[in-house]
Amino acid sequence: MEISSRHQINQKKQMIIPNTRLEVMKALEPSMDNLMEKYLRSIEENWQPSDLLPDSKDENFFEEVREIQGLAREMNYDLWAVLIGDTITEEALPTYESWLMDVEGIDQYSRNGWSKWVRAWTAEENRHGDLLNKYLYLSGRVDMRQMEISTQYLLADGFDIGTGRDPYRNFVYTSFQELATNISHRRVASGAKKTGNARLAKICGVIAADEARHASAYSHFIKMIFEMDASEIMLAFDDMMKKKIVMPAHLLRESGQPQGELFAHFSDAAQRTNVYTTFDYIEILESLLKEWSIDKVNGLTDNAEKARDYLMALPGRLRRIAERIKIPEKQYSFKWIGV
Ligand SMILES: [Fe+2]
Ligand SMILES: [Fe+2]
Repeated sequence: MEISSRHQINQKKQMIIPNTRLEVMKALEPSMDNLMEKYLRSIEENWQPSDLLPDSKDENFFEEVREIQGLAREMNYDLWAVLIGDTITEEALPTYESWLMDVEGIDQYSRNGWSKWVRAWTAEENRHGDLLNKYLYLSGRVDMRQMEISTQYLLADGFDIGTGRDPYRNFVYTSFQELATNISHRRVASGAKKTGNARLAKICGVIAADEARHASAYSHFIKMIFEMDASEIMLAFDDMMKKKIVMPAHLLRESGQPQGELFAHFSDAAQRTNVYTTFDYIEILESLLKEWSIDKVNGLTDNAEKARDYLMALPGRLRRIAERIKIPEKQYSFKWIGV
């Protein structure tokens, strides 16, 4: 009885709202100007990397660099490696921009609201890699050439995140991923603070704040899609979680290595330092289930109902698996770290 009434609501809904990805994207497109104003900062007022770095025109420049170098040496080895890996991940931004530009409904030729969003988002994100790269260059504790080789490899290798050109799967991915980077930068910030490295704490803190804003934006897109095409977005969410959300740097490698060889070491270092753990992955999933009120969505098809059941039970299942996972204790020697 309940199922048939759900069907009726769904059929009715589909009569009055667009039911394909492209139509939904077109219907949402006029909201992009308002959403950009809400979730992105004006360029004139936004922080820029130079606000957080010593000014090379300044006479105190070398003194400030010496201070940066002294504090960089104090940082825990694994935490430092994670910071470098995070920087490389940010520096692979051209991969993310070109991927998003190719998503169905995001048309860079017609310069619609969606492609405007992708450009403006990219412009904000570009400050992250720029700032971190300059900081690491000044730190005196990075083999820059090795870091640059890894960055070039990561860009050349690209990524495979399992979304295809589907806007729904992509926005599920970006909602998840922006939350993951927020956590990661935030934890490096608190690690830096513990060793008195206030500058690095500030650097990672402002980046984390950007990531949180971006996460809210992508999550808002998904909420709007739930209002128009609930069953399909539920199935897309389900599919992404079944595939598992891979990190954008999953193909990470260092000089001389095959593709993807370094990622597990980077990820183990992040787990050891509590910068990003399996439990964070589960908590992000839980926060998205809550944010999108997955348990309260109605008018779903039978398949989407099944997907919802799977998603609601997933955190519990993942937790039972996560409790059994052992993180390798042995530190890996990254070529990025000279000292
Ligand atoms: Fe970023
Ligand atoms: Fe981001």
